[in-house]
Amino acid sequence: MLSYAGIKNPYAIGTYGVEKNAKALQRYRFIHESLLRIAAGHLPARENWDLKVALGKHLYEDAEAADRLRVRITELRTSSAVLNHEPDAALSLLMEELIQARNDLELAIGIYEVVKPALLQVYRNHLATTQQIVDQPTIRLLRTVVLDLEEQLAWGQEMIGHLQSSGIYDDQGGEFKARLTGFLQAAGGIDGSQPKTAALPHRWRSQQPYTLPLRSVRDPRNMGPATWARTSVAVAPDDPVRQKLFDKMRVRQEEMTAAELIAAVLFSQKNMPWEFYRDLARHLWDEVRHALFGQAALESEGVDWMSRPQYTSDYDVNAPKIPGAQYAWLSIGIEEGAMKRPGKAGEYEFCRDEAKHPLMAQFQDYDWADEVVHANLGRKWTTDLIGEDIGFVREIAKQELDHFWKEVREAERQWKEREESIS
Ligand SMILES: [Fe+2]
Ligand SMILES: [Fe+2]
Repeated sequence: MLSYAGIKNPYAIGTYGVEKNAKALQRYRFIHESLLRIAAGHLPARENWDLKVALGKHLYEDAEAADRLRVRITELRTSSAVLNHEPDAALSLLMEELIQARNDLELAIGIYEVVKPALLQVYRNHLATTQQIVDQPTIRLLRTVVLDLEEQLAWGQEMIGHLQSSGIYDDQGGEFKARLTGFLQAAGGIDGSQPKTAALPHRWRSQQPYTLPLRSVRDPRNMGPATWARTSVAVAPDDPVRQKLFDKMRVRQEEMTAAELIAAVLFSQKNMPWEFYRDLARHLWDEVRHALFGQAALESEGVDWMSRPQYTSDYDVNAPKIPGAQYAWLSIGIEEGAMKRPGKAGEYEFCRDEAKHPLMAQFQDYDWADEVVHANLGRKWTTDLIGEDIGFVREIAKQELDHFWKEVREAERQWKEREESIS
């Protein structure tokens, strides 16, 4: 069709006026932002490595969806003041109960079997029934969200099947699913269009707020124990260059702990501008990808990394600190620090010129690029978080690094001692 730029059904009257549309989008925004916060809160507490990885990816996609919805909402004669409001008490309760998930299976069910399938269904309906010319900007944005949701749900269903058949759980999550479904119904569904009753449901588990774990969790069944020491690979290569290369692969794989630290900052820091949460979602997902760089590099060499001890220092050592100190430690102390040579540039050049490992060289090339972005994020947000200029923040980061290295060096000393007593 050449007319209407190929837009179909140009004469059909849509079901969304401007006001109704803005209200629906405002609920979608709230749901994606809540899911972002819930996934961040759970990332350090969940066991399954693949679930952690997917939470990192999906929370970034939720942040992107929310970001575009925010723009569109303000195009619909709606003040940006509503963007920080909770649109529906029952919807808020649904999210407060979802974050109360007590294990990997419950969380996966809540996200991938209750909330996101309902979102997808409502978005498909929105796309089909809104006036195709007047609402094309919404259509374009929802279409990209639908693509993300379809991938997320295909993954989520497989993960739920895997967890349910794992034999780990006596309770298959049936009650959790039924309760959440009830809360969603009480909200009139995702967009509030379903019939509601005046009787709001009572709280179930959400009398107590969800809290972050004091130590980050690793899969106790399939992974080595959590440790604050770097332990590299089980069988050290004879060649010192290859040893250094394998050390580097392992350090990349251990970056999940950096992602978990950012998750803690994202979850616990209240009342920042939206752009802060969006930026940290991206920062978090980048660190998960860096962990995947290491995983992929090690697996491409046939190295078993999963049964090795798992480094958790970035999260664990920094856990008692306030979010500003946590983010300054990472983004200024570590990441801005890595901009000085040899730093990130040296890591890339080593993999390219000395180790001559094309895959790892490509990973380090992009790792370096990402870290330039992260150092900039650090300078952008730590001053705001701490309320001091960057010079002062760098002093704080230095103190935090000193404290961190003291703890980690001690852990490494104990690790060496134990290794030597075994051999
Ligand atoms: Fe990184
Ligand atoms: Fe980074």
